[in-house]
Amino acid sequence: MIHLQNIEKVYRTDTIETRALNHISLDVAKGEFLSIMGPSGCGKSTLLNIMGLLDEPSGGELKIDEQKTDHLSDKELARFRNKKIGFIFQSYHLINDLKVLDNVELPLLYRSSTARERKGLAATALEKVGLSNRMKHFPTQLSGGQKQRVAIARAIVGRPEIILADEPTGNLDSAMGNEIMEILIGLNRNEGTTIVMVTHDEQMARRTHRLVRLFDGAQVG
Ligand SMILES: Nc1ncnc2c1ncn2[C@@H]1O[C@H](COP(=O)(O)OP(=O)(O)OP(=O)(O)O)[C@@H](O)[C@H]1O
Ligand SMILES: [Mg+2]
Repeated sequence: MIHLQNIEKVYRTDTIETRALNHISLDVAKGEFLSIMGPSGCGKSTLLNIMGLLDEPSGGELKIDEQKTDHLSDKELARFRNKKIGFIFQSYHLINDLKVLDNVELPLLYRSSTARERKGLAATALEKVGLSNRMKHFPTQLSGGQKQRVAIARAIVGRPEIILADEPTGNLDSAMGNEIMEILIGLNRNEGTTIVMVTHDEQMARRTHRLVRLFDGAQVG
């Protein structure tokens, strides 16, 4: 489902060159639940952003669902990403002046569906994460775990085949972290969603199918 071959990422400023990823080759199968671990700064978010088409690699080949993406225009890329991929950011990235339901509906705005259909799908996604009773709240009125669940609802509302999650349990206590993990495991098992999750938690990683470790931008082990 995700194919990376010799992926490199170099960040350049006037004076400094940072090699964030060094020849990463990795295939994630359809329906697989993969976790990525490694010390701070080793390139985990960079790798996830490249898989999620939020950032371009400096070299190497990337295919999502057999399709090369480097020739796509920004508009085509946005459409492709919007259809295929749900991204869960560590810092939630919710819009504070929009109600929970409207936040979750956002990815659907690019599609040709009616407002009524969009609201229905958003409500269903919120139900899946157990937040039906918070649809009219604003993000600032929610706990961290609830915000993370809204972020998950937004990531799954368009029924993407791939979910990329950057430390989805990083800011949460272990009970709430477990709940989030259960939701992800359920999506993987019941809907066959391919998931790549960055985590600092060995226990969470053990509950996935496979673990990839990064160190200084390279795969180890
Ligand atoms: N926009 C940028 N410009 C320059 N360097 C960057 C940029 N983004 C990331 N880096 C560098 O690339 C390296 C990898 O960063 P990345 O955010 O991928 O690490 P990470 O493994 O996700 O770390 P953490 O666990 O702290 O989130 C770091 O050394 C970082 O300083
Ligand atoms: Mg990171």
